[in-house]
Amino acid sequence: MALSPTQNSPETCSAALADVPRQGGFPLSGGTANRGHVVRVGDTVVRPTAPFKAATHALLAHLEAVGFDGAPRVLAAGPVAERLTYIAGRAMVPPFPDDVLTDEALVSVADLLRRYHAAAASFDPAGYTWPRPVPARYRTGLVSHNDVYPANVVFRDGRAVALIDFDLAGPGSAVWDFAAAARLFVPLLDEADVADGRRGRALERFRLFLAASGLPRDARLSVVAALLDNHDWTYAIVTEAAAAGHAGFADHWRAIAPAAGRARRWCERNQRALRRIAAS
Ligand SMILES: Nc1ncnc2c1ncn2[C@@H]1O[C@H](COP(=O)(O)OP(=O)(O)OP(=O)(O)O)[C@@H](O)[C@H]1O
Ligand SMILES: [Mg+2]
Repeated sequence: MALSPTQNSPETCSAALADVPRQGGFPLSGGTANRGHVVRVGDTVVRPTAPFKAATHALLAHLEAVGFDGAPRVLAAGPVAERLTYIAGRAMVPPFPDDVLTDEALVSVADLLRRYHAAAASFDPAGYTWPRPVPARYRTGLVSHNDVYPANVVFRDGRAVALIDFDLAGPGSAVWDFAAAARLFVPLLDEADVADGRRGRALERFRLFLAASGLPRDARLSVVAALLDNHDWTYAIVTEAAAAGHAGFADHWRAIAPAAGRARRWCERNQRALRRIAAS
């Protein structure tokens, strides 16, 4: 949940979560909501139980049943902690290795999302209570991940191999996930905030990413329309949690707010160019 994950501190952010068992594991970096409370124990990950456990775990069980290998499996779950399979590789947490900044890596994120959406398409979300709804115009019946950002994607050998952290998954759409991913993996940021080889290549990489999405023209145009809505929806979660006193989100927002504002303005300024690319 971030513009770019800057918080790698293993400090705990909430005393209420302090009873998540460490079980001899070590904290993993990349989390904000559960900062310091996600630990690796052997080939498993122990983390605070998904807030909408019944729904989230039903989705993960479905993904396993249809043979989708790009998500963790639930091994055990109690009221406080859940144990998931550890996905070998590295989530895209700073410092970014060069091999996750390539165009091939970007295309692999689109491929992973396509495979996830195909696997989730046969899951029926009815009868479950889901987290914060995405705006109605971006709900098609598909359960989307809704938090596709670098620290929630595991890469191996320069390719995106798995989505993790399904805590925000719920009824949404492929368009919604591709909009989030475009913002943060292309990335669609002000040039001043891109310090690596992706600088100055946003429009070119956006074209590549949309082409790899496999979405039809109308849906590609909807991705452009969703960029600002997705930005606002995502950062409302961050700012609301920060205002409610969540230290992880407060630190995170302090670190990224200026760049997030510049990113939003960049997307506004470039709407026409982005739409032209989506329409072509
Ligand atoms: N199943 C897994 N396999 C491999 N690594 C994992 C797994 N689950 C979590 N991680 C690592 O732990 C980090 C934090 O986990 P997670 O995303 O669950 O935390 P979070 O605080 O809920 O995140 P967010 O701030 O996105 O809500 C990830 O960025 C990743 O580096
Ligand atoms: Mg996460």
